[in-house]
Amino acid sequence: MRNKTTRNARAETGENRFLRACSRKPVDRTPIWLMRQAGRYLPGYRKIRKDHNLLTICKSPRLAAAITLLPVEELGVDAAIIFADIMLPLQPMGISFTIQNQVGPVVSKPLSTFSDVDSLMKIDPVRDLPHVLEAIHLVKAKLPEEIPLIGFCGAPFTLASYVIEGKPSRDLVRTRTIMYDKPEVWKGLMSRLTQAMGSYLKAQVHAGAQAIQIFDSWIGCLSPTDYREYVEPYSRQLFATIEEEGVPSIHFGTGTGLLLEEMKRAGGDIIGLDWRISIGNAWSRLGDGVGIQGNLDPAALLTSHHFIRSKTKQILSDVNGRPGHIFNLGHGVLPNTPVENVSQLVDLVHELSFPPSL
Ligand code: CP3
Repeated sequence: MRNKTTRNARAETGENRFLRACSRKPVDRTPIWLMRQAGRYLPGYRKIRKDHNLLTICKSPRLAAAITLLPVEELGVDAAIIFADIMLPLQPMGISFTIQNQVGPVVSKPLSTFSDVDSLMKIDPVRDLPHVLEAIHLVKAKLPEEIPLIGFCGAPFTLASYVIEGKPSRDLVRTRTIMYDKPEVWKGLMSRLTQAMGSYLKAQVHAGAQAIQIFDSWIGCLSPTDYREYVEPYSRQLFATIEEEGVPSIHFGTGTGLLLEEMKRAGGDIIGLDWRISIGNAWSRLGDGVGIQGNLDPAALLTSHHFIRSKTKQILSDVNGRPGHIFNLGHGVLPNTPVENVSQLVDLVHELSFPPSL
């Protein structure tokens, strides 16, 4: 394992940078983890992936647990995220899909009518998603005490968009049309997804997840008015469920420059930003009552060490020592990212944020 000295020192003081940042407490160094940190850019992942497809890995707790631990062991990130996919809980609801290489999730029968919605099944995570819960148990048994485990799910809107579009789409026209034109389909689908994700997240917390990230990856295609009317009540309910469980939550989306106030109202201790907006700007709009996660452009990791360093410095200077910052990319690590650049970024964030500027 890398960073052994720092890690042991932290263990002795019982300090946990990530969870402290979630509560906007001062930290010894800025915590960093990366969306898709356990993905295809890691040779260890590619090796396992050669023999198994993604869904098989997700359903094999030992493989999923081993992959979850790779970036902690190899890169020294400050949090692990359970290896799974936002699509997994849709299967026991009765939605069948495959994950196609270079494309993403493809749903066999995209949903469009009320009877499609009405035939969706209620999930019991312990019965229907035991592999995810078992993977959480296995990870927790191996993870150093000071490295927390993040559980996650897709937000109702982003999941609804996959279920309705059937395949990745740039502008989600079918989704927006159903949202406007078929209120009974939209409300039925969003309510069922919210209920299912609530029980799935509770089960992840009971299994040992210490924080939750909700991925509303494609929410940026809505206007603030539409967000308030068609999405906010459902996302708000989901965040209320996490709050009842007593763990911190991160609310992430891309293209959300115009939606930040709405996302904050829906919930989340931390708002996750993509790279299209500066942290300083976002934080001055949202106020100090919320933390911020982000927001290096993943494409920066395809460039030079010099450029990565200057972009990282810029983000930390934007944060300006405010408590409650979690360093991350603005979206997932890209598949062709050199591992050494990711490793350099983790070290850089720790180096440049020390001593704390508070
Ligand atoms: O650190 C991690 O990688 C954790 C595991 C994780 C996966 N998917 C595994 C995965 C997480 C957190 C996700 C979340 C996810 N899945 C999201 C939200 C995050 C985001 O990127 O916005 C979304 C939208 C999905 C749906 C999904 N699954 C897509 C769009 C794709 C294809 C795109 C891609 O990256 O290839 C997947 C497949 C997928 N899920 C892969 C992995 C590692 C890559 C495919 C593979 O190895 O076959």
